[in-house]
Amino acid sequence: MEKKFYITTPLYYVNAAPHIGHSYTTIAADILARFYRLKGYEVYFLTGTDEHGEKIERAGKEKGMTGQEFADSIAPRFKDLWGKLSISYDDFIRTSEPRHTKAVQLFLKILHDKGDIYNGKYEGWYCTPCETFWSNSQVDSRICRDCGRPVEEIKEENYFFKLSKYQNWLIGYLKDNPGFIKPESRYNETLSFLESETLQDLCISRPKSRLNWGIPIPFSNDHVTYVWFDALVNYISAPGFGVDEKKFNKWWPADIHMMAKDILRQHTIYWPIMLHAAGIVPPKKVFAHGWWIMKGEKMSKSKGNVVNPLDLIAVYGVDAYRYFLMREVTFGLDGSFSEDGIIGRFNDDLANDLGNLVNRTLTMVEKYFGGIINKPKKYEKDNSEERLDNALLDQAKKLPRELDSRMSELNFSAALTEIWGVINAANKYIEDSAPWKVSKAGREERLKEIMYNIFEILRIVGITLSPFMPTTVKNIQQQMGLGTDISSYSFADASEWGKSKEGTKIKKGLPLFPRIK
Ligand code: ME8
Repeated sequence: MEKKFYITTPLYYVNAAPHIGHSYTTIAADILARFYRLKGYEVYFLTGTDEHGEKIERAGKEKGMTGQEFADSIAPRFKDLWGKLSISYDDFIRTSEPRHTKAVQLFLKILHDKGDIYNGKYEGWYCTPCETFWSNSQVDSRICRDCGRPVEEIKEENYFFKLSKYQNWLIGYLKDNPGFIKPESRYNETLSFLESETLQDLCISRPKSRLNWGIPIPFSNDHVTYVWFDALVNYISAPGFGVDEKKFNKWWPADIHMMAKDILRQHTIYWPIMLHAAGIVPPKKVFAHGWWIMKGEKMSKSKGNVVNPLDLIAVYGVDAYRYFLMREVTFGLDGSFSEDGIIGRFNDDLANDLGNLVNRTLTMVEKYFGGIINKPKKYEKDNSEERLDNALLDQAKKLPRELDSRMSELNFSAALTEIWGVINAANKYIEDSAPWKVSKAGREERLKEIMYNIFEILRIVGITLSPFMPTTVKNIQQQMGLGTDISSYSFADASEWGKSKEGTKIKKGLPLFPRIK
């Protein structure tokens, strides 16, 4: 079977600059993309920006710009941040690009020709910040159900997509594919919603008299496409739907759509039904993680409680930031953000555990062997030494298997805990094997073996940690004298003990994570 992996992030709205929440999803997707590349998969990692709709048009107007001008001014900020956060995306799609417009119009035409789109009158409510239609029964006191902000009453001639027609199909699909929505709590939430409420058809247009900034509906002169109906199609427009059949068939269905729980409904109800109606299979999995909370509330630009990732990486560095986000909270649950949390992780996990292991290992290799790695010749080893070595090797050998299993569950914090288990075992091994005593006793071959064992651990830790902390791993590799091309790594190399070469010359550098006072 061809080893390929297609992963997506949401397309972020360009109404403001990206914050921690956006970086969280994108870093998680990046880690998976890197992990699958490491495992020899061909990867297509897609991200981008959602540029149409009322919210963007209004944000532009406030600055005296058209929707396009405004989108053009913000989209580069996402690209710039992704560059700074080492995001290895393969494609960045903007919904204002012609390749996307073409695909959306084709998609609409397919559904229209099939009779699944009809026109009618929409009377109800609209939440512009969420870009969501709400019916009369869904709105209390003119407040949005999702975000709690005021909704606007609208009465418009519009087009509707027959969502309701496919409700039973979706229920059946979910029952047949319990792994389609993760974590399980979100699967249960979606299924019980579908089993208890009747879906209403989805309004998929906005009149041009009200909104101009959108993709024209191909069978109407007076309407543009509702922004969600446009944006979701990016997952198929980017890999070439309607344009490049070969490329599209290669990548679709996506392996994972990743996002937070705020946009679960659109991805687990609208999107699979839209695809099914158009004769396209749904994605393989939708994973909706939790929210970063700031002072008790979801971090969000409209609430003004956001933290700019650029400010954090300027102080702590990119990899400490990536590490903190992935280690601190189990992927899927909410997490409270605090800068003290980053400092704690930085000093404990990065400076004390990882940084210290690298530093002391390389210092000893310099001190005892002039910076050269040696494989030991045969020598007398007592039982306790044998036990010590075996315990370390066993732990290192099971790491790739454990990691694979944690990563297949998208449990990034548990995956990091596995890696740290080995780092801590190596630090303990140094204490227990006491190379300083072995050196004093003049047992050269034993000393070589201890150094070689820790060096091997560093090599294996480097490979397994490379998806999470690529810059740090490059630095470690450089200091170990191994060359810095981490793209040549393979996961299989982490399972093979003894690959470090005799005669490797290390080049110890500065400490990786100087403690923060
Ligand atoms: O919803 N915690 O865009 P958006 C964790 N354009 N993740 C967060 C977060 C938080 N506090 N805040 C935002 C849209 N996110 C649509 C999507 S997809 C076809 C269209 C992340 O800019 C998380 O991934 O509001 C969330 O789902 C996404 O940003 C929402 O981004």
